[in-house]
Amino acid sequence: MSHINILAIESSCDDTSAAVMRDGILLSNVTAGQAVHEAYGGVVPELASRAHQQNIVPVVDQALRQAGVDKEELSAVAVTLGPGLMGSLLVGVSFAKGLAASLGIPLIEANHLQGHILAHFIREASDEYPVPPYPYLCLLVSGGNSQIVKVSAYNRMEILGQTIDDAAGEAMDKCSKVMGLGYPGGPIIDRLARKGNPEAFQFSKPNIPGLDYSFSGLKTSFLYFLRDQLEKNPAFIEENKEDLAASLEKTVVDILMKKMKKAVKETGICHVALSGGVSANTGLREAFRAQEKAGNWKIYIPKFSYTTDNAAMIAITGYYKYIDGEFCPLEKSAYSRTII
Ligand code: KG4
Repeated sequence: MSHINILAIESSCDDTSAAVMRDGILLSNVTAGQAVHEAYGGVVPELASRAHQQNIVPVVDQALRQAGVDKEELSAVAVTLGPGLMGSLLVGVSFAKGLAASLGIPLIEANHLQGHILAHFIREASDEYPVPPYPYLCLLVSGGNSQIVKVSAYNRMEILGQTIDDAAGEAMDKCSKVMGLGYPGGPIIDRLARKGNPEAFQFSKPNIPGLDYSFSGLKTSFLYFLRDQLEKNPAFIEENKEDLAASLEKTVVDILMKKMKKAVKETGICHVALSGGVSANTGLREAFRAQEKAGNWKIYIPKFSYTTDNAAMIAITGYYKYIDGEFCPLEKSAYSRTII
C-alpha cells in the first residue's frame, strides 16, 4: 500500500516551519524562529520576510531528512495561504507552489486559524491521547486572535464570539512592552506571574454583550495605572513586576474564562479545547484544568510545541484535505486577512 506523505509549510508570521506527516502520523516538525525582531519589541514585516527567505530551504531540508522521506516520495505540499503578514506568507506559498509544480504533485491550502484549531488532531508515532469529539468548542487565543469557535468537523467551524479590538496575546505583549520587558511578552508575563500575587492589583474588565471579547480597555487601564504609580514611585515597576504580571495574567484569564463558560452553557457542548500561542499560558491551562476537575468540562490542551505557530498543524489540515481530494490551484494567491 502506498503512503500519503504530506510536506507542510507555515510562514505566516515570524516562524519558518516545515513538517512531514505520513498517513496522519507526524514524522518531523522543524521551526526556525527569528530573533531579529526582539530589538524592535514586535515583528517587523520586512525583516520577517527576509528571514523566511533565508530559512525556508534549510528548514524544509531538515524536516525531510528528519522524517527520512525523500522529496520524490511526497504526495502533496500543504501550505498556509493566510491569514498573516503578506510578505511572510509569500515566501512559504511561492516555495510550496514551486516544489509542488516541479514534483508534479498537488498543492493544498491551509488556513492558519483552522490549523491552530486542528492542532489537537496531530498524532506522533507513540502517543495515544484523546482527541476532541465533534462538536467541540475551541478557545483560539493568539497574538492576532481571540475567538470562541464551534468545531463540527475539520472543515466546518463557526465563530461564536471574537475580540472586537485587541487579541489576548497582543494585550499581554503590549502590557509587557509598557513594563519595559522583552518581546514576546506573553511568556515573560507567565514566568513572572508564577512568583507574584494575582490579587495584588485590579484592572478593568470589559462588559460587552454576547460571546465577544475586548482587551483594549484592560491595556489602557494597565497603562494609566502604571503612569499614576510611577509618578509616586519611579521604581514601582521594578519593585512590583511579579505582582503586576500575576494580576495582569489573572485578569486576562478571568476575561477569557467568563465567555468560555457562557459558551458552554449556551451550546450545551462541554468538550472544550484550547489553541493558539496563549494556550501555552500556565494560568489559563490551570483555569481549564479546574473546570475539568470540577466535572464541568472535558478539556483538550495541545502539547507546548503545537501551541505557537508550527507546520505540524498545517500538515494535519493538509492530510484531511488530501483524503477529501481538496486541492488548491497554483494560481490561488496568499491572503492577509480572513475569518474561518
Ligand atoms: O499563535 P502564536 O504563536 O502567533 C500568532 O499570533 O498566530 O501566538 C503568539 C502569542 C504572543 O502574543 C505571545 O505573547 C503569546 O502567544 N504567548 C503567551 C505564552 N506563550 C506565547 N501568552 C501567555 N503566556 C504564555 N506562556
